[in-house]
Amino acid sequence: MRRKIVVGNWKMNNTVAESLDLATEIAEKVGTGSLSCEVGIAPSFLALHEVGKVIEWSDIRLTAQNCHYENDGAFTGEVSARMLAASGCSYVILGHSERRQYFGDTNIVVNRKVKKALEEGLKVILCVGETLEEREGGVTESIITGQVVEGLSGVSDISNLVIAYEPVWAIGTGKTASSAQAQEVHASIRATVAGLYGQQASEHLRIQYGGSVKPSNAVELFGMPDIDGGLIGGASLNTADFMAIVLAAC
Ligand code: PGA
Repeated sequence: MRRKIVVGNWKMNNTVAESLDLATEIAEKVGTGSLSCEVGIAPSFLALHEVGKVIEWSDIRLTAQNCHYENDGAFTGEVSARMLAASGCSYVILGHSERRQYFGDTNIVVNRKVKKALEEGLKVILCVGETLEEREGGVTESIITGQVVEGLSGVSDISNLVIAYEPVWAIGTGKTASSAQAQEVHASIRATVAGLYGQQASEHLRIQYGGSVKPSNAVELFGMPDIDGGLIGGASLNTADFMAIVLAAC
């Protein structure tokens, strides 16, 4: 039985003070030992370290939204996996579609980041997903297979990996993939992973869904056989909504 995982991706929202308030509220609800699923929050880099301190006592996993593929050096404005691990992060989100779309994160770049993050002891949430144009062009499966295969090139052990399927057309748009549409892609991702790493590893792999998950659609999405939780954007900025989604998974 796979343990579901729900992670709030705060994106570029909240000052440090606002992040601390939100994290404190969520930590009070999550507490310790009471939930059957795993819960993470991903504040901005600026707030990460301080948020780590206020959630340390709880079961919440500190998560980063990105990292660089080198550990140190002349990379102005970047943050490395080594720094994140030393700041108490458990997870890092890599290959988010906004990174791919606006910041040049190709499959090759994402792959370098994935390898470095795993090497530094972080767990990785690797995001994949097709655009509307790709879906309408009938190439969803080949795009996602490419993102999985290239994103994991040279990675031999996937025990610290989570994949997040996030159709780009469903992110922040209010449009959610239907549970059947999402399930179809999740099953195909699991089959790709089985081909690469074997049946057993693929059955252990958790695959989250992301894209306009709300309290009103979470139960149905998380009820699908290959959907193992969610990566939540907008709704994770509100404690009541986020906790309703967490409880739908737990
Ligand atoms: P959304 O974002 O829930 O606001 O659609 C999801 C994500 O981008 O991770």
